[in-house]
Order: sequence, then C-alpha cells, then structure tokens
Amino acid sequence: MTVSLAGNPVTCDLPPLPVLGRDVTVPLVTGGEVTYAALDYAASAPALQRVWDDVAAYAPYYGSVHRGAGYLSQLSTELFEQSRATVAGFLGCRPTDEVVFTRSTTDSLNLLAAALPEGTQVFVFETEHHAALLPWQRAKGARVTCLAAPRTPEQAVAALDVALHGAPKGPKLVCVTGASNVTGELWPVRELAAAAHRHGARIVLDAAQLVPHRAVDIGELDVDWVAFSGHKLYAPFGAGVLAGRPDWLREAEPYLAGGGATRTVVRRADGEVEAEWQESAAARHEAGSPNVIGAYAIASACKALTEAGLDRLGEHEAQLLTLLRDGLAEIPQVRVLSLFGADADRVGVLSFVVSGWNSSHLAAALSAEHGIGVRDGLFCAHPLVKHLLGGRPEDPGACGSPENLSFNAVRISFGAGTPPEHVTRFVAALATLVREGASWTYHTRNGRCVPAPSA
Ligand SMILES: Cc1ncc(COP(=O)(O)O)c(C=O)c1O
Repeated sequence: MTVSLAGNPVTCDLPPLPVLGRDVTVPLVTGGEVTYAALDYAASAPALQRVWDDVAAYAPYYGSVHRGAGYLSQLSTELFEQSRATVAGFLGCRPTDEVVFTRSTTDSLNLLAAALPEGTQVFVFETEHHAALLPWQRAKGARVTCLAAPRTPEQAVAALDVALHGAPKGPKLVCVTGASNVTGELWPVRELAAAAHRHGARIVLDAAQLVPHRAVDIGELDVDWVAFSGHKLYAPFGAGVLAGRPDWLREAEPYLAGGGATRTVVRRADGEVEAEWQESAAARHEAGSPNVIGAYAIASACKALTEAGLDRLGEHEAQLLTLLRDGLAEIPQVRVLSLFGADADRVGVLSFVVSGWNSSHLAAALSAEHGIGVRDGLFCAHPLVKHLLGGRPEDPGACGSPENLSFNAVRISFGAGTPPEHVTRFVAALATLVREGASWTYHTRNGRCVPAPSA
C-alpha cells in the first residue's frame, strides 16, 4: 500500500504480523470511540496472535515442571526444556552457553550482578536504562565506572577503550544496550565487545529493545551475555532471559534459595541446614516452580519472528520510520531527541519534544482525544533524557510528571504488529494538537496528566 504524508508517497507493502488487540476500540473524551493505536511497543508490545494461540493450545496440558511423574508434568518439563533450546537457537548461542529463564531484563541483569566475582569493575554509559545502570552498584565489592554519554558510536568505543586501558587488573564487566529505549539508536555492540575483550573484560548486552527488532547472534556479536524480556517480544507472560557464559553463574551463590536449585538438603547434627546446590547455571538460578507458560511464550515468539523473517520485519519497520520522520519533519515545533544524529541506524523507537507543550499534556491529549497510546516522561533513563534535553545531572525530573516542563519527552514506538495507519493517524493527531491546541482541559491526578471531568 502507498500512504501519502504531506504529499510524499511512502510505500508500505509488508503486512503487519497479527497481534492481539488490533480491533480494540477505546472511548474518546470528546465523544465516540476509535480503534486504539498502540504506539508504546518499547514499554510492552501486544501479544502476537501466534503466541496467544500456542499458549492456549498448551494450557489444557499445563503441569508442574521438573517435579511430577504424571504425564502432563513430563510434557510440561519437556516443553520448558525445548523452549530453552529454541531461545538458545534464536540467539545463536555457543555450545557452552546456557539460557536461564528469569522474570525480565531487569531480573536478568540483577541476576548477573549478583553473580559477579568479588571486586569486579563494571563499566556502563550514563545513557543506559536504569535496569542496566543500577544493579551493579549493589553487587558485593563491585566498583562501577559510569562513562559520559558519547555523541557518536566511534566515541563510545574510544571512551570504553580508554576507560578499560586505565583499569587495574581483576575481573571486569561492560554492560551496554543494543538499541536505546529513548532514541531507538543502535549501539556499536560488536565494536564495544571487541574493545572489552581486548582488555580482558566481559560484556553483557541489554537487548530489551534490540531483540524485538533485529536478529541478535551472541556468537557473531561476540558478547558474553544477552538479556531480554518476553513482554517486549510479543510474549507478555512474565518471563525473561539471561543467556551466555555459564562460569560466573555456576560459581555464584544461587540467586534465589529454594526448591529446584538444590541437589540435596540435610539437617546436620549441630542443627544447621546444609544445601548442596545444582551446578548448571539454569538449575542453580531458577529456584521455585518455573514459569513454563512464560518460557513457552518466548519460544513461540522466537519461532514466529524467525519464520516471518527479522529482515522483512526490519524493512516493515524502516518504512514506518520513514512515514513517521517525514510526518514529524512537517511540524517545525517538533524536536526529535538523538545522541548519534539524524542518520543513525535505529529501531522503531523515537522520542521528541514539542516547543510550548508539556510532554505529559501532549501524551494525555493524544490518548484522550485521539485514542493513541504513547509514553511520556524520562523512560527510566533519567541521565540520558536530561542530557538530551540539555539539563544538568542534578536537575529534577520525574517520570510522567506534568509539572516538569523541561525534563520530559514523548516516545512513540512500534514494531511487527503496527499498521501504517497508526503512524499516519499519530502524525495527523499531533499536527492537529500543535496547530489548534487541545480541545479538552487536563489536570494532574496522582502524578499523571489526565482529562478533567466535564463541567
Ligand atoms: C533498554 C531497556 N533495558 C531494560 C529494560 C527493562 O525491562 P523490563 O522492565 O522488562 O525488566 C527496558 C524496559 O523498558 C529497556 O527498554
């Protein structure tokens, strides 16, 4: 199909993948209903229809994992372990790598932080999502170096090189995002991994925003670990993944103490309880009853995206990005946030501010008056957003706080399930709001900007 924006035809010839919620209608504050345009994929993407169908087909066979002798328990255990193998294949894991199922990216990175050898030096950029920025400060004996935001991918590699060159001997870890949850820009992961390894450091890739959009091959990128979340990969059933080298994980204390992580537990004669822990990284760090539906949903999404072709999905997304950027270019009040410049390669995530508008007000009006769901705030990446908005690190800024005119932004994000109409509707709604102003009154309730009740 060809969509015309400001007279420029843009071809969008790849159909979106079927997702749940594509026909949901929502009420407008101004009256009537419209089909909801979900443009907040970077927070949580809708479930793929295929994932939902796979989960529904399995649900009657649901049973305990690793525990029961019954048929359904055995089937569920088999499915859980097959899901692990599918994820390993999807990520191109090396034969010695292990896949640990967690709750989310946040959980995966906290697990790795808890498994760091004593005294590890950790290197991160200030541009990271809080989930990748904060867990290391809590690791026992770890020292964290937070590098300033680079303005080019080359600067990022050079800054890491210098920091690692000057670092004392001992275990070192670099944590870097694959695609920014604020700008959508891709980071030079392969080059950063090469720099890390040149200096004897390891590297973990926060792939929360990369895996839904691009093929990630752990061996080809030569990273030591990859972390991601199911709910951003069209599989919103509460599971995440940490995949990669098992040694640090095998040597660490179990992340959670409990059933499944133990080989044997005895009460000693002196009354102490002693546990012998499992050796494999997965068993050692997946105590408790595993989330088989979450793991199966992730595996189903991996299969669906592989079958659809991540390259084709990338093309679909590139067409949507062209539509979006051409449309935004027609609204002079819009400033797109970017670290690496307009030509940087990016996934379907873009943040912007509009002069004279509070971003929370804008996001509220897009929802209430146009049925369009985007995100506003600092996107759990406070240092990066403040940097991009020209703030100082000590300036205040709170997610979604409408009073904070300078330090928040609007983010639109999309993916495999997004039809081009959602993007064109968004651009048209934004242009109308900027041109004519909101047609409703908004106020702050519980820290959110929301439509005021009608008189
Ligand atoms: C780049 C990045 N890393 C980590 C996370 C944390 O993911 P989760 O909330 O699923 O743990 C997010 C979530 O938005 C993210 O965008």
